[in-house]
Amino acid sequence: MSHEKVETNIGLMAILIIIAISLGGLVEIVPLFFLKETTEPVKGLQPYTALQLEGRDIYIREGCYTCHSQMIRPFRAETERYGHYSVAGEFVYDHPFQWGSKRTGPDLARVGGLYSDEWHAVHLINPRAVVPESNMPSFPWLEHNFIDAKLTPKKLSAMQFLGVPYKDADISNAEAAVSGKTELEALIAYLQVLGTAIKTKR
Ligand code: HEC
Repeated sequence: MSHEKVETNIGLMAILIIIAISLGGLVEIVPLFFLKETTEPVKGLQPYTALQLEGRDIYIREGCYTCHSQMIRPFRAETERYGHYSVAGEFVYDHPFQWGSKRTGPDLARVGGLYSDEWHAVHLINPRAVVPESNMPSFPWLEHNFIDAKLTPKKLSAMQFLGVPYKDADISNAEAAVSGKTELEALIAYLQVLGTAIKTKR
């Protein structure tokens, strides 16, 4: 009887569905905020330096995430190719995280240390110079643009506000740390630290 009432009343059904999904979501999601495994940084994880953080912003601005994920799944095919699978504790200082799911290019979660800075510079300016079959776009302007160092301390304070353990000295030194640096240098500094908190053979 009452079931028929729900099935013949789309408004009521919609409300009940929303309630059911919300409860299910709460049960699945809320405990994650209290699990150490998901809230504590892995041992040795460092907040991004000022230069790396600026590089992260360029990564986002240029839309690198539209072709690259930063999330190695715990499957043989992935760990053989990219190294140790990603764990939650590697991303606790990432606001926002760059996991993504689109893989036009390879996953970058452990690209740190895989290539030299010079390789990255050549590759970002013109990927075809080092990978002839690459269809990754060129980013030649990064070499000529300089970081706006005035904004950097504010970015670190925002991260500190979100719980990233920057010391006040990190913030007061941030402007000097990035002034005169190019966007290319910042982006490479960011790429070179990705995934390095966990030692992994690749
Ligand atoms: C249109 C898709 C696309 C975009 C956007 C893109 N890439 Fe790529 N990327 C690729 C492809 C495809 C490859 C594989 C071929 C190659 O190495 O160039 C690649 C390779 C790479 C590699 C080498 C990874 C490895 O394990 O060998 C790095 C590092 C990289 N990209 C960084 C970036 C960065 C940083 C940006 C943003 C500035 C970016 N990519 C934007 C498609 C893209």
